[in-house]
Amino acid sequence: MRKRIFSVLTALMLLLSLVPAAMATTVEVTAVTGTATAKGFGGDVTVSITLVDGEIAYVEMTGDGETAGIGGNVINEWPEAFVNANGIVDTYTGATFAQITRTGVLEAAKAALANAGVNPDDYLREAGQEAAEDVTLDADIVIVGAGGAGMTAAIAAADAGKTVVVLESQPAVGGNSVKATGGMNAAKTVYQDKNEFGEAAGVEKTLTAAESYADNEFIASSASIVKTQWDAWQAALEGYFDSVQLFALDTMIGGKGINDPELVKTLVNGSADAIAWLEAIGIDLNNVAAFGGASVKRIHRPVDENGKVVSVGAYIVPRLEAAMKERDNITLCLDTTATAILTNEAGAAVGVQATGKTGNHVTVNAQAVILATGGFGANLDMVVQYKPDLAGFMTTNASGIQGQGILMAQALGAATVDMEQIQIHPTVQADTASLITEGLRGDGAVLINANGERFIDEVGTRDVVSAAEIAQPGSFSWLVVDQKMVDASSVIQGYIKRGLMLSGDSYEALAKELVIPADAFAATMEKWNGYVAEKNDPDFGRTSFANPLDTAPFYAVKVTAGIHHTMGGLKIDPETHVLNADGAIIPGLFAAGEVTGGVHGANRLGGNAVADIIVFGRIAGEQAAAYVK
Ligand code: FUM
Repeated sequence: MRKRIFSVLTALMLLLSLVPAAMATTVEVTAVTGTATAKGFGGDVTVSITLVDGEIAYVEMTGDGETAGIGGNVINEWPEAFVNANGIVDTYTGATFAQITRTGVLEAAKAALANAGVNPDDYLREAGQEAAEDVTLDADIVIVGAGGAGMTAAIAAADAGKTVVVLESQPAVGGNSVKATGGMNAAKTVYQDKNEFGEAAGVEKTLTAAESYADNEFIASSASIVKTQWDAWQAALEGYFDSVQLFALDTMIGGKGINDPELVKTLVNGSADAIAWLEAIGIDLNNVAAFGGASVKRIHRPVDENGKVVSVGAYIVPRLEAAMKERDNITLCLDTTATAILTNEAGAAVGVQATGKTGNHVTVNAQAVILATGGFGANLDMVVQYKPDLAGFMTTNASGIQGQGILMAQALGAATVDMEQIQIHPTVQADTASLITEGLRGDGAVLINANGERFIDEVGTRDVVSAAEIAQPGSFSWLVVDQKMVDASSVIQGYIKRGLMLSGDSYEALAKELVIPADAFAATMEKWNGYVAEKNDPDFGRTSFANPLDTAPFYAVKVTAGIHHTMGGLKIDPETHVLNADGAIIPGLFAAGEVTGGVHGANRLGGNAVADIIVFGRIAGEQAAAYVK
């Protein structure tokens, strides 16, 4: 990613340089360039600033590792802003996902000015804050939140012929979705059928777990269907096929049986079609892999042109945004924070009141409102209110995920469910709170404690793995991969570029870097490679195996548990209507994604959040469109 901007002054100088010498008048200018580099999100960012007679005349920024549509926006937009302001101007004053890129660029820009021989403090400028007018917009449907669920709902509603306004509190679209790394769970897809399937042991383990839920009618009936299918498959085939019942069973067991079975049914039944819908708008999730709590390979991931796995959120979000922009019946308002849902005398939702970037009032009149504001994982007061023992935990959530949609709907009498069910994720990088995807464990990584030993089935559900990790010395662990895994994954390469991983040319050399006992670590790794060869883990009963971790160099990242997902939220029915305390529909009010509760029960499976936003986002868009006269 590279952006260059010249000022008018520079253009004039270029023009003068073309004037024939005979006609030229003498123009004496002093031009000096300073360049500096700092750490961005996905690698280095470099800023080059040319001053002509002390004025910023030319700015160039590069940052190949910055994510298109997120940090890439900083690289694209700031050169012009710097030239126009004749200074360093931070136009991302609000909280945003581009935070790491933004910090790196600011640091590099100040150093570039210092290298050009001027005092950077003399070039610090305030972002322009012209007060905008109050505005009133009219649409069929207003959607609050432009994360994955909101954008999906907008596209679905627009394709049903409705006019849509989408309000987003942040300066960029994406919500928590842009931070999703793993992929999307779906059962019975064409891609799954082309892949190798899960191990028999994974299905057996799930059926055994299902026995402890004998009194849960939904689990018992799904388990009995899976058992019948599985016996037939075993007799007829060598492989084991996924089914929507097995997907539902995994989701319910992962959620400790408290999920709303009707919502689970909707999720799993709509999952394969959601993969096809994404494909139809240019989003291909065709790599299928293992993930925590799934009996078979079910998570669908994007790959780059070289076949390397890439982060699902950074892949999906810019494409959903582009699909919205292609539709002229969708209006997107960024930096616009919804504050209240408007209702009519019958109590139906008929619009939204919001505040624009400069404090101006934005009113959207509509016939239906869709809430897609995400959960409350970045609102640490709200997290602690519902689960006091999470005080002091880091969060992987985007800063805009503050629970606003839940609070606005509660003001209308909406019911909530499972608010105290807040998920911690076991592999959050210990210093930066960056999420280290569960995909690494699914693809073969192991977790090692400070004694150089494994301590758990790494591909268990997040609650179980997190609890085991918290019980280790120092409550952290090292996630270990080898060079083969690095070669297959742009995601891991990104972690290395960002300086999150330590490495060593042998197990002993890596142990030295990690300051853990070398002999114990080497013995653990040799033993693990033997288990992979045998496809049997007698120590912790892991049932998902990939390749042995035997190709040097070896890499490790220090991880600990952090707040990741709020399973609780607004009570909805399978058509995404928001319900009140009596179970009645609040007319005109719909919700989808992490703002809702009930889909994931007490513990969400990795890969089910993306399934949730796409499946329920589509339903919300279609249902709201059908509701509009
Ligand atoms: O670990 C992960 O990649 C997270 C995935 C998810 O929360 O769905």
